[in-house]
Amino acid sequence: MTVRHVVALGGSLLRPEEAEQRTSWFGQLRQLAVHLEGNDRRLGIVVGGGLPAREGIELAKTMISDAARLDEVGIAATRLNATIVQQIFLDIGCDVAPTIPSTTSEASALLDKHHLVVMGGTQPGHTTDAVAVAFARDAGASHCIIATNVSHVFDKDPRNHDDAQSFSSMNYDQLSAITGIGEPLSPGASAVIDPIAVGWAKNAGLRLAVLDGRKIEILEQALDGKPFEGTLIQGA
Ligand code: UTP
Repeated sequence: MTVRHVVALGGSLLRPEEAEQRTSWFGQLRQLAVHLEGNDRRLGIVVGGGLPAREGIELAKTMISDAARLDEVGIAATRLNATIVQQIFLDIGCDVAPTIPSTTSEASALLDKHHLVVMGGTQPGHTTDAVAVAFARDAGASHCIIATNVSHVFDKDPRNHDDAQSFSSMNYDQLSAITGIGEPLSPGASAVIDPIAVGWAKNAGLRLAVLDGRKIEILEQALDGKPFEGTLIQGA
């Protein structure tokens, strides 16, 4: 079977502050996709909702308190972002699935036919991190890459703690002591990894790689199975 990779692409990565950075990031991502396709490797990308998800959920919260309804707003935003990425690949003739799948089994079947499959969220109750883990499991990938806007998993939030320590490797027990495991986040809440995704990855025996997706070269290293700057999670 051809090598299959699945990456969760944090929604914030799509919108760096500088317009120039956006062009360059999308350009590098597209080059990476072309490179993988050229080597007959298959890539599933699960895109997060980022700013449109947060804004949409905040707006809906003025009238709605039901978490599942707010999650549906977040899911719509992830699918919007997925469509942007999908169309950017289609625009240069990449072999990307023409539909945005709404389940990971559908995504996995599409990956049999196409080099690239781009999707967003699926069901209420988790984030796109969990979708990526389920996609990796269904597609028979050995690991799932979480490309986000922090460099590593830290023992505490590095934005608020100068003495936060980063991990280059850790096991699932260490990770779940930091992130929690199996408990859903509230709609639109931010965390380095969704605790639902942590539980699913542990149960599926997948390795997780958490890295800074703003730097496409780091993502490429992880995809190539090379040592990468970030956190590798494996083992109970
Ligand atoms: P994201 O996956 O974007 O959450 O989903 P995130 O962790 O904030 O990721 P970034 O910031 O984009 O990297 C946004 C919201 O959409 C709903 C949830 O409410 C989530 O908080 N969602 C998403 C679901 O309910 N189900 C899904 O499968 C995906």
